[in-house]
Amino acid sequence: MNLGITIIRSRRSIRKYKDEPIRDEIIKEALECASLAPTARNEQPWLFGTVTRLETLKAIAALTDHGKFIADARICFAVFGERDATYYLEDCCAATTQLILALQSHGVGSCWVAGEKKHYAEDVRKLLNVPENYTLVSLLPAGYPEEIKVPPKKDLEDVTFSEVCD
Ligand SMILES: Cc1cc2nc3c(=O)[nH]c(=O)nc-3n(C[C@H](O)[C@H](O)[C@H](O)COP(=O)(O)O)c2cc1C
Repeated sequence: MNLGITIIRSRRSIRKYKDEPIRDEIIKEALECASLAPTARNEQPWLFGTVTRLETLKAIAALTDHGKFIADARICFAVFGERDATYYLEDCCAATTQLILALQSHGVGSCWVAGEKKHYAEDVRKLLNVPENYTLVSLLPAGYPEEIKVPPKKDLEDVTFSEVCD
């Protein structure tokens, strides 16, 4: 079995976490993997933050609408994009995915919590003292899974096509 494929297939959004610390090396490695994502013109227009203080986790959770479980995560990553970069959204989404998969490779679950289009994006930026030229793209609370839900996926044949000719 190919390891990369296994990691991708096993990933699920995790919203309940064990009270178990994540080693610093895993966090550092995941950040490195995020920073290796492809970017338009190789601009790498991002800033990655980590939050572990309970007080700050609670404050972020309180700002969100569908991310209240951030308060119970061991860590919350925050991905910010440079507003002036044309493709910051695509670039930061690619980085978020690599972050998720790097964590998953160590059995650490996470859940993408929307940022960029949310009313709380600015409040999270200010809370974390991130400079104004950045905007929040994603929040990623993480921890060892306490509960794994397996939502259904669309059938592959319904979401793929191969070269439609007349
Ligand atoms: C851009 C984006 C924003 C999301 N925002 C939230 C969110 O605010 N809260 C949440 O609980 N899940 C959020 N999710 C996770 C999705 O709900 C989840 O990926 C989807 O239900 C499929 O489940 P799976 O990740 O386990 O395959 C988000 C996912 C993406 C890609």
